[in-house]
Amino acid sequence: MANKVLVTGASGLLGREILRQFVFNGWDALGLAYSRVHGSLRKVDLCEEAQIEAVLDEFSPAVVVHSAAERRPDVVEKQTQSATALNVNATEKLASLCAKKNIYLLYISSDYVFDGNNAPYKPGDSTNPLNTYGQMKLDGEIAVRKYNQFGVLRIPVLYGSVESLGESAVTTLFQAVLDSSKPVKMNDFQLRYPTHVADCAQVCVGLANRQVSDGDSNAGGVWHWSAEECFTKYTMAMAMAQVFGLSSDHLVADKSPPSGAPRPFDCNLDTTETKKAVQVQQTPFKDGIRAVLESYLP
Ligand SMILES: NC(=O)c1ccc[n+]([C@@H]2O[C@H](COP(=O)([O-])OP(=O)(O)OC[C@H]3O[C@@H](n4cnc5c(N)ncnc54)[C@H](OP(=O)(O)O)[C@@H]3O)[C@@H](O)[C@H]2O)c1
Repeated sequence: MANKVLVTGASGLLGREILRQFVFNGWDALGLAYSRVHGSLRKVDLCEEAQIEAVLDEFSPAVVVHSAAERRPDVVEKQTQSATALNVNATEKLASLCAKKNIYLLYISSDYVFDGNNAPYKPGDSTNPLNTYGQMKLDGEIAVRKYNQFGVLRIPVLYGSVESLGESAVTTLFQAVLDSSKPVKMNDFQLRYPTHVADCAQVCVGLANRQVSDGDSNAGGVWHWSAEECFTKYTMAMAMAQVFGLSSDHLVADKSPPSGAPRPFDCNLDTTETKKAVQVQQTPFKDGIRAVLESYLP
């Protein structure tokens, strides 16, 4: 019988791909969504403990991948209460229920748990989030780490197949690339490592396979995954223009720190241990972004 995995946030950018790859790898997978329920996705409000418990009891997974979160730092700063309910309180409830039911919980975290001053970061390095979102992701980690069977996967800014260009902080830049009618300033200060969701999903499947096949805590602990190519928003936009032979004359490099919620300068994640544990590709940015953006060309 196939192993069972429950994926939260399965209507989201990363969760969609995680669900797809578990199914592709022969798992019996159930995806949860909240406002974007369609197809075989199940509606569960993770802020309601009874709803979490009901779906865990009914589906009885061996593994839960917890991808649901409010992940927009500026929204988190403004809507702290609802973001805490999802990012921290729901994670705590899910972790405690998984521990009670002997389920391996893989929690998706963020490079924003670091302050960005001492990259590259190994999984055991000291955390020091600069903004509320980073603090909430760390609080989620702390909640998960109280129990035995957990994995924490920290990842950087993501791109992949999007429902609209605005869905990812990477693909949204393409809107400015396409509109060459006026000059547009793009941040050329903060260092980013745009990572394809397919590569992150492979890590999730790999860790889950280790956990269920080895039956011990080989997949436990904190893991880092990231692409290696380093960009700023400006150089990402320039790369997009180059991939499609578009004009980039209107793109203006802005060397000042980004506005809004404070952002770490460089959170490069050291992936050495993860590469030893699971076999994963690192999609080159220009290849990945070409495939994702092609259908958005005018
Ligand atoms: N995106 C990035 O660049 C990035 C970078 C680093 C780490 N991460 C982490 O990666 C994970 C996935 O991010 P993502 O980009 O895929 O996020 P996303 O696209 O914004 O998706 C968020 C998911 O959370 C679900 N959700 C929201 N409120 C809910 C509730 N009350 N109950 C149940 N589900 C709820 C949403 O469901 P509906 O849409 O159906 O409402 C959606 O599936 C997050 O943990 C995030 O912190 C993301």
